[in-house]
Amino acid sequence: MSKRFYITTAIDYVNGQPHLGHAYEKIIADVIARARRSMGQQVFFLTGLDEHGQKVQQAALAEKKDPQAYCDLLARDWMTFATRLGLTHDDFVRTTQPRHKEYVQATLSKLHDRGHFYKSSYSGFYSTKEETFLTEKDRQPDGTFDPAYGEVVELKEENYYFKLKEHQEWLVDHLEKNPDFVSPPHRRNEVLGFLKNNTLEDLCISRPVSRLNWGIPLPFDREFVTYVWFDALVNYTSIAAHHADLDLWPADIHVIGKDIIKFHAVYWPIMLKAMELPLPRQILVHGWWQKDGARMSKSLGNVVDPVAIMNEWGVDPLRFHVLRELDIGPDGNWTDAGFQARYGAELANGLGNLVNRSLSMLQRYRQGIVPAVSMELAAETIQATQETGEALKQNHLQAGLLTIWGLISRANQYVDQTAPFKLAKDPAQSQRLDAVLYNLVEICRVLAVLAWPYLPETACKIHAQLGLAQKPDQWSLSAWGGLAEGHRIGVPSPLFPRRDDPHKSSGRSIN
Ligand code: ME8
Ligand code: MG
Repeated sequence: MSKRFYITTAIDYVNGQPHLGHAYEKIIADVIARARRSMGQQVFFLTGLDEHGQKVQQAALAEKKDPQAYCDLLARDWMTFATRLGLTHDDFVRTTQPRHKEYVQATLSKLHDRGHFYKSSYSGFYSTKEETFLTEKDRQPDGTFDPAYGEVVELKEENYYFKLKEHQEWLVDHLEKNPDFVSPPHRRNEVLGFLKNNTLEDLCISRPVSRLNWGIPLPFDREFVTYVWFDALVNYTSIAAHHADLDLWPADIHVIGKDIIKFHAVYWPIMLKAMELPLPRQILVHGWWQKDGARMSKSLGNVVDPVAIMNEWGVDPLRFHVLRELDIGPDGNWTDAGFQARYGAELANGLGNLVNRSLSMLQRYRQGIVPAVSMELAAETIQATQETGEALKQNHLQAGLLTIWGLISRANQYVDQTAPFKLAKDPAQSQRLDAVLYNLVEICRVLAVLAWPYLPETACKIHAQLGLAQKPDQWSLSAWGGLAEGHRIGVPSPLFPRRDDPHKSSGRSIN
């Protein structure tokens, strides 16, 4: 069996409810997973939760709960959330699961035996919010640490260290020889710049039980638990090992946010090298969302709640907006007005209107029966299909949407140019009307296939309205001419009811 395409997301700290940033990352990974499956690849998509560490322990304590009970309760919400987003993950890892903990301990024992660790006393600064050590170099010009680190405390304690220094050279070499290892390119340059201008400090991989006990015990010294990042990163391999029969490792893509690059592009490759495992093929780094131009934070009360958006607007408008608004790389800014504007212009008036009027006209003028195949818009549709496919294969998700919406505009323009409602009045134009109607409903069918990775619910609705039983989940279905002459379509209904005008939200057609 050939190796599966293995894609992962960061595993989220389970210290609160999911927000827009978490949703965005998981949607990126899901679209890539769905697109690859649609194109016939075997895919394994992993997401999950990071449950150990001081941050989670403190959150549990603040609610006077036992950390495991606290995680169990919240994990239910996060798993429901994943389903609600329409994620097609094949497994959901929780780092408190025995299958993961046992693998982490086996890994630690192996590295310890091979002499990768040493014990030493340390004094330095620690940010619980980011679960990371800071050094003098992390201070800002005024001597303070970036507020993003939250409270920073000075620690003096004995710990175990992982020797990183000796790995610096080959890692630089690997990054230079593999231009796609970190994507997009400016993130790769950032990592290279960091590695070339700094000497790596050895990584502390333990915490004394006396200070923190919510973690995986070190198998060779029970006075310590494992540093949460060492534990968390290993999830990508512990779960691969759990599904050994599927031949998952190395991962093809780790999707992560820009704040955790160092962990993924520096520490993780070095850990893997020490574990004698191959490196992942790519670390795909997305930017961060702000809300109305400000950093989202619980204390500012400006956190965008993806569940509230889905409750009001549905899952696909959320999936659509985040990927259409923001390419993978730069930072984005969420505004409610921007979201609603796109919903109206691109979903309701763009895709929704096209499908609704195309199917309504076929019902009205031809009793819902598909006329003979016409090739008029075939070439343009095939072109758009190829471009969308290419974009998806390169993880250019925004570019893919732009191409799809180009085809939607073209088809809406075709309605205006051919004016089927006029053709319908002239019996001499009957054949012409047949051809126009065929092109329109066939484009709607192809659009369902192209949109499937992005808007799975909508794509299924389009297929259902077209009277097609199958899911539009295979790219090969996008070939022109799939609708056969004589096929009877179903009943059209608006895909994206208008919200701005309460009179129109009752499910009426929006032609
Ligand atoms: O870092 N916009 O967990 P986390 C976009 N447990 N993405 C955002 C975001 C925002 N405003 N806020 C957070 C952790 N993210 C670790 C990961 S992986 C082995 C361990 C992204 O819950 C963030 O960049 O703090 C990260 O990729 C993910 O959400 C989880 O963040
Ligand atoms: Mg974080």
